[in-house]
Amino acid sequence: MDLGLRGKVAIVGGASQGIGFAIARLLAAEGADVAMVARRAEPLAQAVSRVVEQNGGRALAVAADIRSAADCERIVATAHAHFRRLDILVNNDGAPPLGLLAEFDDAAWQRAIEQNLMSVVRLSRHALPHLRAAGGGRIVNITALSVLQPIAKFGLSVATWAGVVGYAKTLSLEVAADRITVNTVCPGRIATGRLEKVFGSGAGAPALDENALADMTASIPLGRFGTPDEIAGLVAFLASPWGAYITGATFHIDGGRGASLT
Ligand SMILES: NC(=O)c1ccc[n+]([C@@H]2O[C@H](COP(=O)([O-])OP(=O)(O)OC[C@H]3O[C@@H](n4cnc5c(N)ncnc54)[C@H](OP(=O)(O)O)[C@@H]3O)[C@@H](O)[C@H]2O)c1
Repeated sequence: MDLGLRGKVAIVGGASQGIGFAIARLLAAEGADVAMVARRAEPLAQAVSRVVEQNGGRALAVAADIRSAADCERIVATAHAHFRRLDILVNNDGAPPLGLLAEFDDAAWQRAIEQNLMSVVRLSRHALPHLRAAGGGRIVNITALSVLQPIAKFGLSVATWAGVVGYAKTLSLEVAADRITVNTVCPGRIATGRLEKVFGSGAGAPALDENALADMTASIPLGRFGTPDEIAGLVAFLASPWGAYITGATFHIDGGRGASLT
């Protein structure tokens, strides 16, 4: 199946590893040019090289911190200046720290809002004129299953990404006439380095032990963690002409773990 992405230009956040890298690689494999974003320049440069080597396409590294308003503006401007158009924006990155809500101060909340919500607001706002100029476009936000099924200690992400879901639904109404779609993807447990960071015992401590892994796996009806490529597949479909009639939607992709009828 040709996704029809040849000649399209995408910005993909958090693209030096994990889910963002898989999305950038798949979009590039389908013929899109990709601006790949992350903070650390060296791993990002290596990721860009891997995408170019594997696909022979064009990829651009944009080292930036999406918590910064100026960086959000620079990401879109740099990608557009390089590729001369923009069709797809994938909002993806890391996430705020875990902890009890009662223990986060205003500064922690502010950082979480900048990271999870304002980055989406700013990058989308800067991207929209270019998407309109291209005759239509796609915005896909990566959040987490916990937005639909909150988990204790994930509250900073749950609260701020719930804002993203509301933002995305509203924006989808406002830009539909411009043939721009806006959707949100909520991954369950996906095998990336992040899982170790989130569920491991912390810096310098032993990795996730076998019992913890077995317990986590047992909570997933399909009996395994997802792969970054399985998230990338849905994102690429939504970003493609095949997804043209899907907008304002929120998808959980979680091996059946989400316990809800929607
Ligand atoms: N893995 C899972 O099971 C899972 C499940 C549900 C939701 N998610 C969500 O999906 C997203 C991606 O997860 P992942 O597992 O792929 O994470 P990951 O492997 O930790 O990758 C995160 C990527 O984002 C970049 N990044 C982090 N903070 C950034 C910032 N402030 N500005 C720009 N780039 C930033 C990182 O590079 P630098 O550090 O160099 O910036 C890296 O490229 C996260 O929001 C995560 O919470 C993941």
